[in-house]
Amino acid sequence: MSTVLERPVPSETTSPWWRSAVIYQVYPRSFADSDGDGVGDLPGITSRLPYLAELGVDAVWLSPIYRSPMADAGYDVADYRVVDPLFGSSQDADLLIAEAHRLGLRVVLDLVPNHTSDEHAWFRAALAAPVGSEERSRYLFRDGRGESGELPPNSWRSVFGGPAWTRVTEPDGTPGQWYLHLFDDKQPDLDWTHPEVRAEFEDILRFWLDRGVDGFRVDVAHGLVKADGLPDWDHEQELLDGSSHGGERPPMWDQDGVHDIYRSWRRVLDEYDGDRMLVAEAWVEPAERLARYVRPDEMHQAFNFAFLSAGWRAADLRASISDSLQASATVGAPATWVLSNHDVVRHTTRLALPPDAPRPNGIGAQDPQPDEQLGLRRGRAASLVMLALPGSAYLYQGEELGLPEHTTLPDETRQDPSWFRHDGTVAGRDGCRVPLPWHADRPGFGFGPTGASWLPQPSSFARYAADVQSGDPGSTLELYRRALRLRAELGLGTGELVSWDDADDADDAALGFRLCGSTGAELVVTTNFGAQPLVLPTGAQVLLSSAPLDDAGRLPADATAWLAG
Ligand code: NOJ
Ligand code: MG
Repeated sequence: MSTVLERPVPSETTSPWWRSAVIYQVYPRSFADSDGDGVGDLPGITSRLPYLAELGVDAVWLSPIYRSPMADAGYDVADYRVVDPLFGSSQDADLLIAEAHRLGLRVVLDLVPNHTSDEHAWFRAALAAPVGSEERSRYLFRDGRGESGELPPNSWRSVFGGPAWTRVTEPDGTPGQWYLHLFDDKQPDLDWTHPEVRAEFEDILRFWLDRGVDGFRVDVAHGLVKADGLPDWDHEQELLDGSSHGGERPPMWDQDGVHDIYRSWRRVLDEYDGDRMLVAEAWVEPAERLARYVRPDEMHQAFNFAFLSAGWRAADLRASISDSLQASATVGAPATWVLSNHDVVRHTTRLALPPDAPRPNGIGAQDPQPDEQLGLRRGRAASLVMLALPGSAYLYQGEELGLPEHTTLPDETRQDPSWFRHDGTVAGRDGCRVPLPWHADRPGFGFGPTGASWLPQPSSFARYAADVQSGDPGSTLELYRRALRLRAELGLGTGELVSWDDADDADDAALGFRLCGSTGAELVVTTNFGAQPLVLPTGAQVLLSSAPLDDAGRLPADATAWLAG
């Protein structure tokens, strides 16, 4: 038995690339190092673009490449128009964009508008200027509470731990005002009510659009506008956590005023040819609220963190997929899907944790160690669910290799500011940021020419290196390559989910749905969540499977199959 869904009327007759794109996130520090300093760089990325074209993705999104003191790995920008020398030069950026375009790949840059670096010229000027000055008004400076202003202006907490306020020393040497930083103290929040801030970012958009980039991933898109008067909010904050605490919206997140900003950005992008796009990183619940960011005159896409956070259970995944499809359809935007990024434990490791366990902020050597094989099986199965779905999918570098999280990084090598701001009690995000293994037999697994690597790589990376996987039909790399080829051939990204297989509901042991690609091809996707092998329909033609079928032709536990419909 199956539930047949009403088919939404397609909102556009032609489909711009981003509606169905597979977008590959490059974390520049950790992708490929060309000069041997142990830090990935733009020439390294450019040299590996043919690998991405062969993988079959449509676009690359680069985490920030701008000049930065790297207090938060580049999410603390000191100059939005200049490439950081660690990553290369502006000319290297031009070469990267040109080579990507030559290979048919789009380029999406990360834009960080909520905060700058404390080393940005504006913030330096603000510190040097007096209380109440124009320079200070571009940021959120406030007087402290208490008799002599010794207490922070309100109770807000930083997402990285500790208070969200830091007190400055005034130019005359006295303890002075406080400034707001929702993240690290080296990331002061801008005041988006200031017209100069708005004008500056429109100009930055134009600067990079003129250079040929195809779009922007907008960092903390739900944070730019704060509630009037900055009312107290005592809850701890966490990355990707959009919870509204008893229905009350936090005063720093998802304020209605942010939408006006994105409308003006949309107007800027619409002045350019070539379907440039904006994707929101917004930790907003529920799905209907998130859909407001992708109304027809705002951004084009928003990340789907509800899908990423769904537990390894048929009912959870089904609810998350169906909510997302419904909510995005109400505004005519494509759904998006993501399982891993540079802020979360890699899904190949995360999915080995019990489904009810809270999403961890990193895993350390002292923590219980997840089962690597189980995680890999589930990770591959989840990836095949994601890559079949209509809309746009985001891949995080290394997931096509099935890379696990580094769960035993020595503490002294950690660099994530959230590790420091939590006094070493929270492992943080370094474990998903370890430099990629390209060659099993080379020093540093071929990350760069010298074997240097800004974070140590685990010895297990030898098994995951791209060169040993390439050409091996059982490897995760070949699984992704085949999945992406089929996705394109069948038109799955521009297709529709037409029905759910209700037989799954009984014991929640399986998830099944039927898709219709835009080519008219039909596909049935089945995932086995139970402990027992799953009998597939008689005569089913298996196009792809995340694990080999057993001798009786059944789908093993923790596996997904794509069946011709
Ligand atoms: C979200 C980014 O993905 C994360 O890496 C960063 O630390 C924060 N925003 C602050 O910019
Ligand atoms: Mg380098």
